[in-house]
Amino acid sequence: MVIVYRSNTGFTKQYAEMLAKAEKLKVYPFAEAQGRVEPGEKVFFMGPLMAGHISGIDQAVKKFSVTGACGVGMSPATRQVLDTLTKANYVPNAPIFYLQGGWAPKKVGWLKRRMVGMATKSMRESLRDKGSRRTPEEEAQYQMLLQGGSFVAFENLETIREWMKEL
Ligand SMILES: Cc1cc2nc3c(=O)[nH]c(=O)nc-3n(C[C@H](O)[C@H](O)[C@H](O)COP(=O)(O)O)c2cc1C
Repeated sequence: MVIVYRSNTGFTKQYAEMLAKAEKLKVYPFAEAQGRVEPGEKVFFMGPLMAGHISGIDQAVKKFSVTGACGVGMSPATRQVLDTLTKANYVPNAPIFYLQGGWAPKKVGWLKRRMVGMATKSMRESLRDKGSRRTPEEEAQYQMLLQGGSFVAFENLETIREWMKEL
């Protein structure tokens, strides 16, 4: 198996490289994967979430034998996020995983920044209204929404690594 990824602001890249190192797998950005991935080789695809869709998954499924896929987004990893992701990103015979990456407003253009700003407005407001009643997790999420931040952590890869070992 090899890892192929797409990444706009670097969070998915970090996860892909960490996972490759831990599992001793080769890792390629999507743009460089063609011609390097052997025909028929199994691919674990990782891409950033954009409006609920794993960026690049359609092209990856067309080009490679994708046996697992992972979306990297800004929301905390909950059952609900994973269920929505699984419904919106069907890959034949492949499980879908989710990892919380982060938010890098300075690395995206103004239009995308605005789109995310609008999509997260109600969440920001409800967290703001909680004030000092925010839990530490909510506080971290609130600060990330306001100014950007990273939740990339090696421990988050545990479920994917377990799955890879059982393949
Ligand atoms: C236009 C746009 C749409 C996004 N939509 C979602 C989304 O639906 N769900 C989510 O959790 N994160 C969403 N995000 C946040 C990114 O998925 C998140 O920042 C991710 O970690 C980026 O990964 P990357 O650094 O590899 O590009 C969106 C970001 C942008 C710019």
